Amino acid sequence: VLSKGGETLTEDLDDYRSRAQSVAEPAAWDYLAGGAGAERTLAANVAAFRGATVVPRVLVDVSAVETTVEVCGTRLAAPLGVAPVAYQRLWHPDGEAATAAGAAATGTLMIASMFSSVRYEQIAAAGGSRWLQLYVLRDRAILLDLVTRAEAAGFTALVVTVDTPRLGDRRRDVRNSFAIPPHAQSQNIDPATMALAGIPAPGGSALASHVDATYDPGLRWSDLEWLAERSGLPVVLKGILDPADANRAVDAGAAGIVVSNHGGRQLDGAIATLDALPAVAAAVAGRVPVLFDGGVRHGVDILVARALGADVVLVGRPPIWGLAAGGAAGVTGVLSRLRAELELAMALAGRPRLTDLDPAIIRRAPR
Ligand SMILES: Cc1cc2nc3c(=O)[nH]c(=O)nc-3n(C[C@H](O)[C@H](O)[C@H](O)COP(=O)(O)O)c2cc1C
Repeated sequence: VLSKGGETLTEDLDDYRSRAQSVAEPAAWDYLAGGAGAERTLAANVAAFRGATVVPRVLVDVSAVETTVEVCGTRLAAPLGVAPVAYQRLWHPDGEAATAAGAAATGTLMIASMFSSVRYEQIAAAGGSRWLQLYVLRDRAILLDLVTRAEAAGFTALVVTVDTPRLGDRRRDVRNSFAIPPHAQSQNIDPATMALAGIPAPGGSALASHVDATYDPGLRWSDLEWLAERSGLPVVLKGILDPADANRAVDAGAAGIVVSNHGGRQLDGAIATLDALPAVAAAVAGRVPVLFDGGVRHGVDILVARALGADVVLVGRPPIWGLAAGGAAGVTGVLSRLRAELELAMALAGRPRLTDLDPAIIRRAPR
């Protein structure tokens, strides 16, 4: 049994997941759990970790395990962050405020979604380290306004998501004619801009209509240079899978990148993120931090991703399982559990420092 600060952590992530599913409204659960198309990439993200094993060393002094890191000026207790997830009041009345409180309590990075259902200023009130994620809308004035607000509220970096020129074909949302109910709508962007997200489109996804109407599908590298120049905050690009794009991102002034396929929610058939990571990390070659998400469900997954080149690992769905199951305490439970599992895995692998983790300790089975 793992413990943290004298408190026993009996529940693991699967327990939080089942509790979350039993309390969530079915369409909101499908929106959380689902991916695009046949959900091949969603499954591949998790399968890639199953196919990666660690070769432990023995008789190493592991009486102290060291997990702290710094990323883009943000100091963290562990190489762990909460990935941006939109509309969190779908799963708990406290929404993003509770997620931020759980992240702050555990020294975890909180990346708030542009489409938060709680005001950014209220997320900031939870304390802790916070970054804000943005999509580039056709209306650039909205973007610049949000950048100003983020700076004022003490968000210390911007994460621009670049894998969503259109929305992936999320079959479950289409089947459910899913739309964002009034209680979970965005509290940060004017209602006219957000209107389509809340209007059920029978036989379709309201989110897809919203994305078609508001996101800029013509976004190019020069737009990102424009934003990086205008923002006083570091700009991190989320959704990079190709080493050439990683290079391009660094040239365009990105302060970091996130290796991500959006949790299998965009291109179904896209490469699993763990499979993409080594080549992207090699291309970046330490010039900027490499963040990673997709399929991380155990502490040892964080160890594996670190060894294959990630500086910081993000989790998307797991904190929401904690949120739905138990509000801020549930988020704290999930994040403490992941950190305790990471520390145990590092000790049992005979690698007590993050710098001990490199590709040579991982074996990957062909799938
Ligand atoms: C319900 C849901 C909503 C999401 N909303 C956003 C978002 O607003 N912005 C964004 O960049 N990514 C969003 N993502 C993607 C996550 O940030 C992250 O890339 C993905 O969930 C990581 O995979 P994991 O869930 O397997 O950890 C969302 C994911 C989920 C499951």
